[in-house]
Amino acid sequence: MRKNTSTTRVLADEHGSIAGFYTLANTALDVSQVPLDLFDREVPRYPPPTLTLAWLGIDARYRGRGLGTRLFARALADGLRAFETVRFVAVVVDALTEANVAFYESQGFRRVPGTTNKLFLPASTLVAVVEE
Ligand SMILES: CC(C)(COP(=O)(O)OP(=O)(O)OC[C@H]1O[C@@H](n2cnc3c(N)ncnc32)[C@H](O)[C@@H]1OP(=O)(O)O)[C@@H](O)C(=O)NCCC(=O)NCCS
Repeated sequence: MRKNTSTTRVLADEHGSIAGFYTLANTALDVSQVPLDLFDREVPRYPPPTLTLAWLGIDARYRGRGLGTRLFARALADGLRAFETVRFVAVVVDALTEANVAFYESQGFRRVPGTTNKLFLPASTLVAVVEE
């Protein structure tokens, strides 16, 4: 990325065409949105660092074969590697549709209070899920 604000990893097919991709970005959660159970019910004074799964997509030709689920797991594994050196409080995702919300909830994400499509996975859960 030219501005060095995110990292995109691409899954290529045998012809070099893009089959899927995901993008991770360093972000921060507005203090008004911080789920209080992340901070023992205390509102933090500064926006806490988060890791955002900014994009995840599978080319229409390759959907329904398990690639989306595998790329999602890979994105979380990348997240855990990043967490080992630079801490953040949660992985955040802005779901595009209600189906996406349901999928992320099935993976342990919870809605950020006061939002409709923003979900978070506490870093402690990330560690547990990826190391499972
Ligand atoms: C969502 C998407 C990534 C799923 O990719 P896929 O390769 O088809 O997923 P899989 O084959 O691993 O799917 C297994 C199941 O998990 C669901 N799933 C997997 N990843 C998902 C995700 N990120 N969001 C919602 N559902 C997802 C699939 O819809 C499918 O459900 P079904 O069995 O009820 O049909 C793909 O459909 C896509 O690129 N959609 C458009 C972009 C999008 O919605 N991205 C997510 C942005 S938040």
